Amino acid sequence: MTNAPLDNEIDLRGLKPLAKFLPFSPPKVDADELEQLREALFSGWLTTGPRADEFEKVISLHLGVTGSLALNSCTAALHLGLKVLDLAPGQAVITSPLTFVSTAHAAVYNGGHPFLADVSADTGNLDPARVEDFLEIHCQKGPNQYPVHKKTGLTIVALVPVHYGGHAVDLPRLWQVAVKYNLHMLEDAAHALGTSQNGLPIGNPGHRPKGAEHLISMAAFSFYATKNITTGEGGLLTCSDPALLDRARRLAAYGISDARRIWGRYAPKGTWIYDVAELGYKYNFTDIQAALGLAQMRKLPDLQEARKRNANIWTKHLEKFSHLLELPVTRQGCGHSWHLYPIRLKIEALNCDRDALIIALKALNIGTSVMFIPIHYHSFYRQTLGYVEGDFPIAEDFFKREISLPVSPSLAAEDIEAAASLTCSLLARLAR
Ligand SMILES: Cc1ncc(COP(=O)(O)O)c(C=O)c1O
Repeated sequence: MTNAPLDNEIDLRGLKPLAKFLPFSPPKVDADELEQLREALFSGWLTTGPRADEFEKVISLHLGVTGSLALNSCTAALHLGLKVLDLAPGQAVITSPLTFVSTAHAAVYNGGHPFLADVSADTGNLDPARVEDFLEIHCQKGPNQYPVHKKTGLTIVALVPVHYGGHAVDLPRLWQVAVKYNLHMLEDAAHALGTSQNGLPIGNPGHRPKGAEHLISMAAFSFYATKNITTGEGGLLTCSDPALLDRARRLAAYGISDARRIWGRYAPKGTWIYDVAELGYKYNFTDIQAALGLAQMRKLPDLQEARKRNANIWTKHLEKFSHLLELPVTRQGCGHSWHLYPIRLKIEALNCDRDALIIALKALNIGTSVMFIPIHYHSFYRQTLGYVEGDFPIAEDFFKREISLPVSPSLAAEDIEAAASLTCSLLARLAR
C-alpha cells in the first residue's frame, strides 16, 4: 500500500463535489408507469397479450410503419433480423467497430461473420466511403449478385450500421452503396428512437431509395433501462417485408406456427393445439413491459425535449473549451435523439488522460460512461475476427478520447448546470 498519488491523478483540491452523485442515465418513470403497471398486474394476463399488441401499434404509428415486432431486447431484434434475412455460415455483414457487442453478436449467433469498416470522425457512425472501399477493394461480384470477400470466400448480404448516440448514420449515402452492391440493411437503432433524417424517423423504410424495393430495410430498437424510452428490458424490430416480420414473430415464440395463438391459448377462444414449425427462441415482449412502454410513449416528446435541454446545457458550458475537447456534432438534416452526449478530448492539449478525467469526475460526483470499447478490442472478437489494434484508426481514436456525459431526462436542468459548471472548473486546470 502506498499513499503516493497515482500517475496522472488529478489534483482536486479546492473543487467541491456535487452534493449528490449525478448518475449517468437513470430512467424517468413516475405515477403514469405505476398506474399502467398496476392495471397490467391485475388484468389477469402478464405475458405477451393485448398490451404488447397495443405497444406495437403505438410505436408503428410513431415510426410511420405498417407493423412492428416487440421483443425482449434489441439484441434479440438484431439476431432475428439477420436470421430472417437467412444469414448463415459462409455469409457475412458489414458493421461498425464503434458499437455495443450485440451488433456483432447478432451475426455470429446466425453463424455469420461481422466484417468491420471504420467510422466517420465527427459522428462515430459507419462511414459509407469506408464501406464502399471495403467492397470495391476486397470483394468481387459473386454468382448470386451478392459481393464475395476475395480472401475468405464469404458472401456479404447486409449492412448493419449503428445510429451512434442517436445521431443518424448517413442513410442516403449508405443506401447508395447498398443498392450498388445489392445489400440489405439492418439498422441498429438502439439509440435512435426519436432520431430522424431528412424529416423521416429512423425505422421508417422510406429511407430506402425508390427502385430498391428488392432490398430489405429493417431497424432494431432498444428499450433497455438507459434508453430514450425504457421497458426495463425490451426491443423492437421493423421490417419493410411483412412476411419476414411474421417469420420473426414466429421465431420469437419458439418457432410455433401461429405465434399469436400460443400467447392466447388460455383465452376463451384459445386452443391447446400448436405446432412447432422451426427452431425458434423465447424472445417475446410481455404485457408488463408493454405497460411501462405505453406510459413512456405518451411522454416521449417531453423525454426528448428534456434530453435536448440537458445536451444544450452541456454545450453552453463546454463550448468555451474547444481547445481541450470536441463536442458532439449534429449534421444537417439529422434530428438527434440525444441518447448520448459524447465529448472527445484533445489529449495532446491536456495534462491528464481520459481515464484520469473520468476518475476525477466521479470523485466530484459526476457519473459518466465510455461508448464504446471497439468490437475488435474484445478478446472474443480478437480471436474470431482476426483484426488487430490499428485496423480501424478512426474508431479507435474516437474511443480513446471519448466520454459520455449524463443527459438523461430524469436529471434536472439545475443539476446538469451544476455538473457542467464544475466540469468547467476542472477543465480549466487541465490545460497543458
Ligand atoms: C448500439 C447498441 N446496440 C444494441 C444494444 C443492445 O440492446 P439491448 O440491451 O436492448 O439488447 C445496445 C445496448 O446498449 C446498444 O447500445
